[in-house]
Amino acid sequence: MLTTTRLLSIILAIFVALSAIQASAQSIDNSAGSSSSSEEASTSDGASTDASSSDAASAISSTSPTDVTTTALTSSGAVSARLSAATFIAGLFWSSSTTGMHRRCAATIISETILVTSGACAQSDNPIKKYGDGEWRIVAGTDDRFLDTTSVTGNAVKSIDINKCQNFATIVLSEPLTLSDTVKGILMSSSPVSQTTTMATYNTTNTQGDPLLTLSKGGDEACELLLPGYTKRNFLCTQPVDKQRVTADFLGGDAIIGFVVQSGAAQPVLFGVTGLYYSTIAEAQTAQTNDPTAYRYNALVSPHIGNIATLGGLDAQKIATAATPM
Ligand SMILES: *[C@@H]1O[C@H](CO)[C@@H](O)[C@H](O)[C@H]1NC(C)=O
Repeated sequence: MLTTTRLLSIILAIFVALSAIQASAQSIDNSAGSSSSSEEASTSDGASTDASSSDAASAISSTSPTDVTTTALTSSGAVSARLSAATFIAGLFWSSSTTGMHRRCAATIISETILVTSGACAQSDNPIKKYGDGEWRIVAGTDDRFLDTTSVTGNAVKSIDINKCQNFATIVLSEPLTLSDTVKGILMSSSPVSQTTTMATYNTTNTQGDPLLTLSKGGDEACELLLPGYTKRNFLCTQPVDKQRVTADFLGGDAIIGFVVQSGAAQPVLFGVTGLYYSTIAEAQTAQTNDPTAYRYNALVSPHIGNIATLGGLDAQKIATAATPM
């Protein structure tokens, strides 16, 4: 049996390899900077995701450890190599007719016309209030997808299917993405997540540091206590993470990923997207105080695979995998 430490080192190896491969394959040219907000208050929700798909495997076997370390730890420009390498992460932007493009959250690429994010991220009332009338756009491929604002116009959205109760949204594009080495879909996992399943997410607003956050499933009892009936809403409840701030942790719709072994190599798969915290502390509910012990209730993708396939006119077998996650 694999220990947690061993699993973590495997994951790190995978990400380091991915970063190295992608960083060398593309030159990161970025003079813009900073990264910051995304909304959400008492129950916080905010930003984005990552992972690249099928070539994680080849990346691991073909990259020597020394190459990997030096390349992966170097950040060129405004966005760290690790985030840049997250080819399945796109940015969900609000394009205001008066104030331009504003990043709202991360969106994860499933196919050239389908992306997923959290339901809270895809509600337009917040951005309308903040930035004025406009429309949703998707930015993929370049580091602009992680920046607060950009001059890139992105791809037009046809419709967004929001499941409010399960805090999940499926975005359908009217202008399909061009899939390439830097724009890729990730397979969704249809398997249940267990207490020992290896999970990670990307803090996509942390553009200069290490965005990777390791997540663990919360115990049923604690999760049920904070949000009774959470399993009926298909939430994936995760334990508190280091330095979390319930009122503003800047995670929103970020991909929660794991790994399956396929043809002898680890391949990233999508479990869900980051969702909201629930706190029993009244002041935390109204954003007056932080609750470092709050659990987070994320949306699982598995219950939505059928609907996503229908919305995209896709074969569910091709966008999901039933392989047992590590
Ligand atoms: C995500 O990144 C932002 C910006 O670096 C940081 O302020 C925030 O605390 C991070 N969130 C978590 C949960 O680590």
